Amino acid sequence: MEKQWWHSAVVYQVYPRSFCDSSGDGNGDLLGIISKLDYLQTLGIDLIWLSPVYLSPMKDNGYDIADYQAIDPRFGGLEDMRELIAQAKQRNIGIMMDLVLNHSSDQHEWFKQSRQSRDNPYRDYYIWRDQPSELRSIFGGSAWQYDPQTEQYYCHLFADAQPDLNWENPQVAKEIHQMINWWTEQGVAGFRLDVIDLIGKQIDQGITENGPRLHPLLQQMHQACFKGKALVTVGETWGATPELAKLYSDPARQELSMVFQFEHAAIDWHPQHGKWQPQPFNVVALKQVLSKWQTTFKGDGWNALFWNNHDLPRIVSRWGNDQQYRQRSAKLFATLLHGMQGTPYIYQGEEIAMTNVRFEQLEDYDDIEITNNYQEKVVEQQSLSHQQFMQGVYASGRDNARTPMQWDASANGGFSSGQPWLKINPNYTEINVAAALNEPQSVFYHYQQLIALRKSSEYSDTLIYGSYQLLLPEHPQVFAYLRQYQQQRLLVVANVSELDQRLSFELKAKQVILNNLQQAKGAVQHLSALQLAPYQAIIYELE
Ligand code: NOJ
Repeated sequence: MEKQWWHSAVVYQVYPRSFCDSSGDGNGDLLGIISKLDYLQTLGIDLIWLSPVYLSPMKDNGYDIADYQAIDPRFGGLEDMRELIAQAKQRNIGIMMDLVLNHSSDQHEWFKQSRQSRDNPYRDYYIWRDQPSELRSIFGGSAWQYDPQTEQYYCHLFADAQPDLNWENPQVAKEIHQMINWWTEQGVAGFRLDVIDLIGKQIDQGITENGPRLHPLLQQMHQACFKGKALVTVGETWGATPELAKLYSDPARQELSMVFQFEHAAIDWHPQHGKWQPQPFNVVALKQVLSKWQTTFKGDGWNALFWNNHDLPRIVSRWGNDQQYRQRSAKLFATLLHGMQGTPYIYQGEEIAMTNVRFEQLEDYDDIEITNNYQEKVVEQQSLSHQQFMQGVYASGRDNARTPMQWDASANGGFSSGQPWLKINPNYTEINVAAALNEPQSVFYHYQQLIALRKSSEYSDTLIYGSYQLLLPEHPQVFAYLRQYQQQRLLVVANVSELDQRLSFELKAKQVILNNLQQAKGAVQHLSALQLAPYQAIIYELE
């Protein structure tokens, strides 16, 4: 397959509101991010995916955009954005902007115009109907909001303050393309496309995901915005199957570089209550799903690899052990992911094994998905009790990922000198960047080593382009796979449990490349009689 620069890239996601506050107003900002670029360079990443920093009423923390070409004053101004792009570039780091194209804020000028009158030139920028359908919003409640001024309903697949753009209207596509090109001119390296699988919707047929117009629209966008430019693009596609993922990311089809698929992220969801009542973690199911994705593409697509983002709970709390084995289990998940084929994404704080949070009061949570779903499931439908719902929030709520970044043990974790917009996780006194940088065996340095391996002359081809083969598919706790490129073979083996394991592989180790336990080299040399401690993970080079 034709090699692309972003095949070897490692991406770091910054959630700006929670990353670093330079002004003391309790919200992270662009100058704060600039002040941490040296830290990110030390980690070794190539790209920053910047969650939205555009002008926004922050109903959904920036995923409700009021102006795509302005920076929200909480974050700074356009000058700061240009400075961030330039300073990052000096460190060989590119910036990926987050494009929220399925909807805007109801404070966007287009929507303000659109709701004025039925014959306003912007009326058809949004989706208006005389009657609501049964369609539900992803944040709970109906997907239709009545607007008394013009006596019609508008469609919102998310909050009512996030009206869906009407991609049936070619004028919408034209304006969006111009906006994307403007950002490219500002020197960004690429884009992440929010819930992009919704833009081809056919609302009257009840089709929202993967609608018939989706791929034509993306091909059109590619022609207008991405073609011939060294940009990387990643789509957020909750409904992607391997076959669908090829439609987006097969280079021959000229749509996107890759997509985030979420099959693994939803393996423990409850059939009825989804993420609000997660089921026990099943290692075999995880292996099956990820291995399917690892073997899907034969030059006709590319994987985006991730455990975390701003919508998901922290991996170390979710499937690892965030108490006794916090560091070791975090390193295990890092090893499993970075050993795979695809472009790895690290979510802020993952590199120091930040954990989920538990606030006693519902009021301490900010996320609109939590508050709206509480209203629907606990108050209106009474399908979950308050206690059940809070358990769901502790396990899966999005604010688990959004508590402020823990930089040091000083007040507010060094995130802000003011009152943070969302409470910090009280464990910041122990879990923070300063502590991680001071400890040679920390999770941070493990991530740094994994990134360095992916870029090393010895192993990069195998890690980036090598084939993948799952071993021990039925083993209930061990996740093991081979990567091979020409004559080189690597074995990644991980004990995803608190039990000791004894394994026997008919393979010969040449050397241990990475081990998340400090051990004498000889201790794990013999693969025919391998003993793994709880959450131990090792990468071998084989004979
Ligand atoms: C997906 C984003 O990741 C999430 O944070 C947001 O709430 C929805 N899209 C709506 O934009």
